[in-house]
Amino acid sequence: MNVAIRRAQPSDIDVCARITYEAFKDISDRHLFPTDFPTLEFATEIIELLIESPLFFDIVAESSGAVVGCGFMDKRNPIRGIGPVSVDRAFQGRGTGREIMKALLEGGRDAVGIRLVHESFNMASLSLYASLGFEVKEPFVLMEGKFRSQPQHGFEVRPMTSEDVAECAALCEKLCGCDRTSEIEYALNDFSPFVACKQGRIVAYTCAVSALGHSVAETEADMQALLLGAAAYSSDRLLAFHLPLRYANLFRWCLQEGLRALKPMAVMAVGEYRSPEGCWLPSFVY
Ligand SMILES: CC(C)(COP(=O)(O)OP(=O)(O)OC[C@H]1O[C@@H](n2cnc3c(N)ncnc32)[C@H](O)[C@@H]1OP(=O)(O)O)[C@@H](O)C(=O)NCCC(=O)NCCS
Repeated sequence: MNVAIRRAQPSDIDVCARITYEAFKDISDRHLFPTDFPTLEFATEIIELLIESPLFFDIVAESSGAVVGCGFMDKRNPIRGIGPVSVDRAFQGRGTGREIMKALLEGGRDAVGIRLVHESFNMASLSLYASLGFEVKEPFVLMEGKFRSQPQHGFEVRPMTSEDVAECAALCEKLCGCDRTSEIEYALNDFSPFVACKQGRIVAYTCAVSALGHSVAETEADMQALLLGAAAYSSDRLLAFHLPLRYANLFRWCLQEGLRALKPMAVMAVGEYRSPEGCWLPSFVY
């Protein structure tokens, strides 16, 4: 199918939201997993945020003048993050997804690396990304629920402030080998980021205890303390986050705490990649 790729504009928000909502609902329903975009309103909120921010590279694919697909790339960090990518259900399997991905990769050609998160049950996206050079780096699960335990002694967990940004960015650089300063600054304005301190030093931070933000900790125990402390600030809310399966003890602890694993996912990458040390929880892009 012949498609033309162009930059997305605010007037594309509604059609991109509909395509994203329907495409993700369709693949998730077919596999009996929850979708990342449970309502059209939520999809519209996210797509609007992406298209209206200069920090994201947004494209649409058009066929005969109609938008049939869209894709987004997070430009906040030197390592770019792709997602979401969606093609109208009626136009899938005809090469549009590949054209969107090629355009996104072209948009990120100067980056040292590009990463994305994919749902491991999705054979179309796995094959598409692998054929374009992406490799699976970090299998993880989406966890959801409320912790039974109260915050731990010996840690101070508090909302992040602008004075914490440099220390959090240095922790990320040391443990994950990448610079996410701009994303941490973004979280300060748009989400509810937290830090966990031990003896006056930041040992863990989260940009958001949700799929929207990543978290980094020196150890699995520090991550536990961060999660329990952050949860105490919103005890009425279900928490959701991405948990790499290599942290077997942390996974078991989450299950004992009453959380549920909802679906299998993975971080994929092209270009520079260093497997994080310590403990990290990926965001919706990496
Ligand atoms: C994933 C998605 C973006 C791919 O777009 P598409 O236009 O359908 O895909 P394309 O026709 O460009 O195919 C690209 C590759 O995907 C793979 N693929 C496509 N459909 C497939 C299917 N039904 N089963 C297995 N692999 C498939 C093939 O490897 C194909 O390459 P090839 O045709 O050159 O062999 C699209 O199917 C979609 O919107 N899915 C729902 C939302 C989604 O899963 N987004 C990605 C989230 S991580």
